[in-house]
Amino acid sequence: MPDLLGAAEYQGPTPAYVYDIAAVRAACDQLRAQLPAPSDLYYSLKANPHPAVVSALHARGCRAEISSVGELEAALAANVPPQNILFSGPGKRDCDLDAALTAGVRDFSLDSAHAARQLNAAAQRNETTARFLLRVNTEVAAPGAGLAMTGLPSPFGADVAAIEADPAAFTKQSHACFEGLHLYLATNLSDEDALVEQFTVAIDTAERVQRLLDAPLRTLDLGGGFGAPYAHKGRLPFFPTMADRLARKLDTAFPSWRLGQPAVAFESGRYLAATCGRLYTRVLDVKQAHGQRVVVLDTGIHHLGGMSGLRRIPAIRPQLHRHGTTQETPEQTPTMVCGPLCTPLDTWARSTPMAEVAPGDILSVPNVGAYGLHASLVLFLGHPLPAEVVVDGPTHVDSSQLHVHRTAVTSPV
Ligand SMILES: Cc1ncc(COP(=O)(O)O)c(C=O)c1O
Repeated sequence: MPDLLGAAEYQGPTPAYVYDIAAVRAACDQLRAQLPAPSDLYYSLKANPHPAVVSALHARGCRAEISSVGELEAALAANVPPQNILFSGPGKRDCDLDAALTAGVRDFSLDSAHAARQLNAAAQRNETTARFLLRVNTEVAAPGAGLAMTGLPSPFGADVAAIEADPAAFTKQSHACFEGLHLYLATNLSDEDALVEQFTVAIDTAERVQRLLDAPLRTLDLGGGFGAPYAHKGRLPFFPTMADRLARKLDTAFPSWRLGQPAVAFESGRYLAATCGRLYTRVLDVKQAHGQRVVVLDTGIHHLGGMSGLRRIPAIRPQLHRHGTTQETPEQTPTMVCGPLCTPLDTWARSTPMAEVAPGDILSVPNVGAYGLHASLVLFLGHPLPAEVVVDGPTHVDSSQLHVHRTAVTSPV
């Protein structure tokens, strides 16, 4: 259940996601200051591909990490040059590779020997040469991981054993050149020691795989996993010792990394986008049902939190505040908070303390700029999509409805 704050200041249409671009810039500056330098930072569009978010981060020097043709369109629409785009993700179709190559993208992250052959054929077909980072599935899982992605059976990355068995499969392609390694062990870590520990596993693995491949390592993408608050009040976590600890580790493993050999990169979705977003909703109905107060909102699992059932995002837990104030009040009563969908699943909270509200009141959910609308079940039950409103501090920039990227949702016929 999200943290529903009183939202007396918002008078626009509901439901609406409001993204504050000033918060995106602040998050980006904060993360960069905590990373070892020199390093590149990729913004992972899966967190929020809204053009205003992507272009704010591009203007701050971020590259774009995409994993579909829809995200490719979103990056290009935000004026990210194709040479700043990394196309990652397991299971790419030939037509996805063709679309990316045609758009000028040359950098890919690949997960298997088959994917290297597939990219090689695509580059040949498109009369060009592509580069790739080989994503590695580490032998151990990241300690303390919010959602572990490697170190266990998964579609992500090639096993170290598979690389050891046939290194030439990755280094001897004519039109797909090995550029470096990609590690992404886990997401949503707020504990600094756990974060450093998983980067340590990543660096150790990269060192070992480089020896197996016996090929120059130009890029080392260490992934990310930087945690952020979700649908609750709260600030981005600080990692005050991370940059120094990682720099020391890199000095030992890759002594020329400060000279860009290899160039070190990191990725983040939620840390960069989470705090910019707030979901505004109106109360549609308030009633008693079997002795319990039930509040029905004009938003629900179709706009926020639907993916928590898949563990992609944390389960939403109640922490309610009185309308118009952030003060806890004595008159809070246990409340069932529901959305408008015609299913009992559309329930953010079965029983959570909540102050008095009435139909027409506006509430809001903070810190939903990442994995909010774009991680939702929006087609389920056919309700209207929320508006997406962009502000820059106090200035209104843009209001629109969800950008759906058509090529992503249709297949070639
Ligand atoms: C390869 C890769 N990069 C970046 C991300 C973004 O993760 P987060 O939003 O937690 O930073 C993910 C998440 O799944 C990922 O798989």
